[in-house]
Amino acid sequence: MNKRVKRTSFSGSIGFVLAAAGSAVGLGNIWRFPYLAAKDGGGMFLVVYIILALTFGFTLLISEISIGRRTKLSPLTAYGALSRKFGWIGVIACVVPVIILPYYCAIGGWVVKYFGLYITGGGTQAAESGYFNGFISGQTEPVITMLIFLGAVAFIVLRGVNKGIEAFSKILMPVLLLFVIIISVFSLTISHTDESGITRTGIEGLGVYIIPRFDGMSIQSFLTVLVDAMGQLFFSLSVAMGIMITYGSYVKDDANLKRSINQIEIFDTAVAFLAGVMIIPAVYTFTGAEGMAASGPELMFVTLPRVFEKMGFIGNILGTLFFAMVLFAALTSAISIMEAIVSSFIDKFRLSRTKATVIVTAIALAAGLLVCFGYNILYFVLPLTNGNNAQILDIMDYISNNLLMPIVAIITCILIGWIVKPKTVIDEVEKTGIKMGRKRLYIVMIKFIAPILLAVLLFKSLGLF
Ligand code: ALA
Repeated sequence: MNKRVKRTSFSGSIGFVLAAAGSAVGLGNIWRFPYLAAKDGGGMFLVVYIILALTFGFTLLISEISIGRRTKLSPLTAYGALSRKFGWIGVIACVVPVIILPYYCAIGGWVVKYFGLYITGGGTQAAESGYFNGFISGQTEPVITMLIFLGAVAFIVLRGVNKGIEAFSKILMPVLLLFVIIISVFSLTISHTDESGITRTGIEGLGVYIIPRFDGMSIQSFLTVLVDAMGQLFFSLSVAMGIMITYGSYVKDDANLKRSINQIEIFDTAVAFLAGVMIIPAVYTFTGAEGMAASGPELMFVTLPRVFEKMGFIGNILGTLFFAMVLFAALTSAISIMEAIVSSFIDKFRLSRTKATVIVTAIALAAGLLVCFGYNILYFVLPLTNGNNAQILDIMDYISNNLLMPIVAIITCILIGWIVKPKTVIDEVEKTGIKMGRKRLYIVMIKFIAPILLAVLLFKSLGLF
């Protein structure tokens, strides 16, 4: 095991929970969760998601945070510290955030741009047809906005665990939650009559979101819901990216892990659910079924600006609040992604925080430029089976989310379930004298069910069924 050095800790459990929730609540919650829920049978998806969060998500989250707290190391070295033979998986767990950070910052830059547009009253422009494509295919602006976002992330990481990550999370997360609640309430109160005289209301839109639909349900479609929910949960909880190991390594030995983990799960799931309450009723009311098919960048940067535009003056205010909220969510997630790499470099190569941050920022910048240029000078067409084209960003996203993350998670389950044994995690959680809840469930999940579910996810990602 590496020589132990005195490690900085979060000052208390509130700091840890808000930092970890800040990492978990990100673009994944806002642009993918509502879309998947609308596509996968409304409440049906919600029920599957919540069951998985309480079992599968809980298992992965508690394992990673415990690995971090026990080893007091970040992913690059933590796996090797648990078992020398598994050190290699630490390398993959560290490569995942290296791949994600550049494209997350490129998208963060797009959010900066839209926030800037709305706060200066330019929301109408954002709703014009072709505006988003025009913006991302430009050679300068996306690079500048990415630099602003990356600069902010690097600045906070440079300030360290307490004065940077914890201090900013304590401000940004409560504000984020407040904005989410305001927008959700507003979204439920709207109604709109379209050109053909059809009136739709936010409450009807809420029904589309939460009422389970079982029509046309088959084993195959249930499997799709399951795999979608699992993939979403994974990205959303920031597991298999080295992040939760890193944040776990900053948790004090006397902190109540059980309570903190429950709070992180509740926060992340609540914001994901509320993202649907913010978005689905508004999109449904103003665009009907047509807009409901959008997800990802299209939902956030094309469909929603059109919805805000149709709301008139209030739309600009709502757009400002919305993009401020997305910016905070993206920022706190990107900080955690960068911290996982910086912390790994500090632990492994004994670098100072400043040196490690400068190196990681330089790598993210170089790869981020490739992502930005993927929409102009490096543009190519790689057709996907779903009829879309893949760019550099999509390829990086595919490699990290669909391939490497399931692999990291499967190996983590094998390591904990069969090599170092679940007792290692249970002892870590219980070392303050507090009994770990869902203990039997945890053992069965980590040894058998989670690796099987993950293998299904991996095979599905590889297109094997
Ligand atoms: N967990 C973060 C998200 O949902 C990475 O975007």
